[in-house]
Amino acid sequence: MARRLSSTLEMTSAKQPPSRRGSERLVPDRRGSGYSSGFSSRRPSIDPSRLVPMDKTTHVGGTDHFNVVFVGAGNIMFGCDEGPWNHSFRFEHKLGLRLKVVALIDPATERAAAVLQKKCDSFVVSAYRDTRVYKTLDDFAKNMTPKERPRAFVIGSPPMFRGTLQPGRDIEMQIQKYFPGVAMFIEKPIATGDNSEIEETFKVAKFISESGAIASVGYMLRYLKATQKMKQIIEENNLVVMATIARYACAYELIAKPDWWDKSKSAGPIIEQGTHFCDLSRYFGGEVDISSVTAHSLEWDENAGLLSKMAIDESKIAPENRIPRVTSATWKYDSGAVGSFTHVATLQGRNYSCELEVHADGYCLKLVNPYVQPVLYVRKPGDDHEQVFNFPDDDPFFSEARFPVSNWIDIIEDIEEDPDAAQILSSYEGTRSSPSVFMSPMEFPDACRTYELTWAIREASERSRAQRLATAKVFAAGIKETIAEEE
Ligand SMILES: NC(=O)c1ccc[n+]([C@@H]2O[C@H](COP(=O)([O-])OP(=O)(O)OC[C@H]3O[C@@H](n4cnc5c(N)ncnc54)[C@H](O)[C@@H]3O)[C@@H](O)[C@H]2O)c1
Repeated sequence: MARRLSSTLEMTSAKQPPSRRGSERLVPDRRGSGYSSGFSSRRPSIDPSRLVPMDKTTHVGGTDHFNVVFVGAGNIMFGCDEGPWNHSFRFEHKLGLRLKVVALIDPATERAAAVLQKKCDSFVVSAYRDTRVYKTLDDFAKNMTPKERPRAFVIGSPPMFRGTLQPGRDIEMQIQKYFPGVAMFIEKPIATGDNSEIEETFKVAKFISESGAIASVGYMLRYLKATQKMKQIIEENNLVVMATIARYACAYELIAKPDWWDKSKSAGPIIEQGTHFCDLSRYFGGEVDISSVTAHSLEWDENAGLLSKMAIDESKIAPENRIPRVTSATWKYDSGAVGSFTHVATLQGRNYSCELEVHADGYCLKLVNPYVQPVLYVRKPGDDHEQVFNFPDDDPFFSEARFPVSNWIDIIEDIEEDPDAAQILSSYEGTRSSPSVFMSPMEFPDACRTYELTWAIREASERSRAQRLATAKVFAAGIKETIAEEE
């Protein structure tokens, strides 16, 4: 992999810049706003053949520096053993010698210094040689030189520090106040605050939208070739989605981060992790009638909820904050279609097992294993056998398609070379008006709505658990009374 990166850098520096319409545009006239009509396919999509692996993609040429600020020096930004995430690696590929990471903001300055040292010891040193570490955005903004003015921010700090209007948890607002209109790539989920703060995420969305920033949220499964193939089949056949059936089984043994197991920190597995599949369900099913969401859970203290290979000590987490092992939800889409989603933390080993089925008249599109090796099974009218599509290029470590960084940079740079391939498929911004077929995707508060749906699922499951416990209590009291009467 290192050799391939090295040759990419050489190639990038030698290449002529693709045609560009000037990069100073602040007001969004985004290509991400292209859309097609119909409830089932109204969001933007990309021709799957245009989603290519990183080593085959067009690198951004030119010689001018592309200044980036990374917020968070953790796994998503610099990689880890748990998965293929590593934004810095993708920026290095995309921008080559133009990349200048002007600042790395992280209160854990030692961790930040350590990851930078590794970069400086490697052949990508030119991007990190002058990177300065700051504990806060304020420190960076106050000390920044005009030469260091950023073109873009990548926000990969924990979600409890973003997505609200509260001081210290409002990084998007602060960034836009200091650098109006600057592009932002924001990791999912957009927040993990209390559910009473959901309204605030819509206000943040409005603020971002009004600032004109090119904002993209890290729902990378939308960018899979397999996902876009499903969109293509739906669009080409004018299908109306009737049902989405999603299942997300994570390999819990691998998850060693205590925060993930603590609802007070990461808001639970639906909001933190299942969010990817709730988002994908919405991408195909459309807007959800939030009042229709029902859900059940299997909790840690139920007989069937025992896990034998947890990597953390759950006794250190307050009982009320421990996460469910299973959560299963159903809902109605505004279109009338029905959605369902089951998240389980049951698998051991390494690989997750995830599937999404999209049903329409005569059709079943089944996406299997999107995190590891996506396969799409398509059943069509006139043939009871499934057609199988494999996507060997969707290598989790090398496929840019899984990480929408490349598209986002193309849009910031306004690259005209391949307009159809450069679309933001998951926006943050939008208004909270009722959805209509004629809305442009810019008006769909995508990431906010996914956040709202995941909270609705968690709350519905907690309600049904509370009801179950209350019924059990009444039942137990009744038995006690009967025994007392018999005595
Ligand atoms: N798209 C994906 O599939 C995917 C995969 C992994 C992680 N993520 C997301 O990326 C985000 C970060 O996850 P991670 O695994 O890198 O976490 P991490 O714990 O490995 O790293 C987070 C880093 O942020 C730092 N930090 C804490 N508070 C901060 C603040 N106020 N400002 C700046 N930095 C701060 C921490 O010190 C830490 O170094 C999460 O939202 C997570 O859900 C997404």
